[in-house]
Amino acid sequence: MEPYAFFSKKLVPLSEAKIGIMTHAFNYGTACFEGIRGNWNTDEEQIYLFRTKDHYQRLLNNCRILKISIPYTIDELCQLTVELVEKNGYREDIYVRPIAYKSSHVVGVRLHDLEDDFLIFVTPFGDYLDVTKGIRCGVSSWRRIDDTMIPPRAKITGLYVNSALAKTEAMENGFDEAIMLTHDGHVSEGSGENIFLVMGGKLVTPPSSDNILMGITRDTVIKLASWELGIETIERQIDRSELYTAEECFLTGTAAHVTPVREIDHRKVGNGEVGGITKKLQDLYFDVVRGRSKKYLDWCTPAYTKRVKA
Ligand SMILES: Cc1ncc(COP(=O)(O)O)c(C=O)c1O
Repeated sequence: MEPYAFFSKKLVPLSEAKIGIMTHAFNYGTACFEGIRGNWNTDEEQIYLFRTKDHYQRLLNNCRILKISIPYTIDELCQLTVELVEKNGYREDIYVRPIAYKSSHVVGVRLHDLEDDFLIFVTPFGDYLDVTKGIRCGVSSWRRIDDTMIPPRAKITGLYVNSALAKTEAMENGFDEAIMLTHDGHVSEGSGENIFLVMGGKLVTPPSSDNILMGITRDTVIKLASWELGIETIERQIDRSELYTAEECFLTGTAAHVTPVREIDHRKVGNGEVGGITKKLQDLYFDVVRGRSKKYLDWCTPAYTKRVKA
């Protein structure tokens, strides 16, 4: 079946959802986007969309930063997403990509006096990083962009050149993922993930002021650690050398889920295996996002009202 997208206010075949080459967002990166996971639950033959409202709340906040206005409420955006996912009918893990963008066909760098538009597409999406064995990371020579330059909290498309430079450098140097530092040398985040260390049995993670995206997976993990395991999270500045002495390390993100880090800059993290606290959090997280945990069903939106054909 042909995939569908939401484009120019309606559901259309993906092949018809095209933007022109003069589109402002294409030329200048003037768009903000989201990434929402739909997680396939085999037993129930259902896709659960994870924390959709929170993603759209973040998108609408970010639209304010870029002076983008879209004519939908959070509830309408959630409803549109469910309709689109249902129309596509995938029976596997998916990734939903909403983008709010400056749609005018005009040359000129600015945010004002431009038209805005909104689209959503959906794509099948398995594991982004190795969640089972864990990954090897390298500290990037590219620094995280500061809030006074392009706000990293805003998930602006143009900002992701910074992430792409770091990711490609890391992979070309033989690592799986980059860890970026702030301009003043503190640990910020991965190219598309937040970072956590386990130190003295507690979780330690950089604060919002260290130019991170305030991740929804980050928030989920902080809550699950506290509510289910009684583990406290300390949000504080982290020095680079603490990466080398932490007991455990993991990355979090909609794409990355909870990914264990087994090596940083050619130094083993702990004993180089997946850490005990990381594994417990990862197991809890997977149960929650696949809708297997009744307690957290509020975070999961079922996409299918009727059975989708195999
Ligand atoms: C730079 C960056 N940091 C962190 C995250 C994790 O955020 P979330 O858990 O909301 O997906 C993402 C992914 O969207 C990201 O792009």
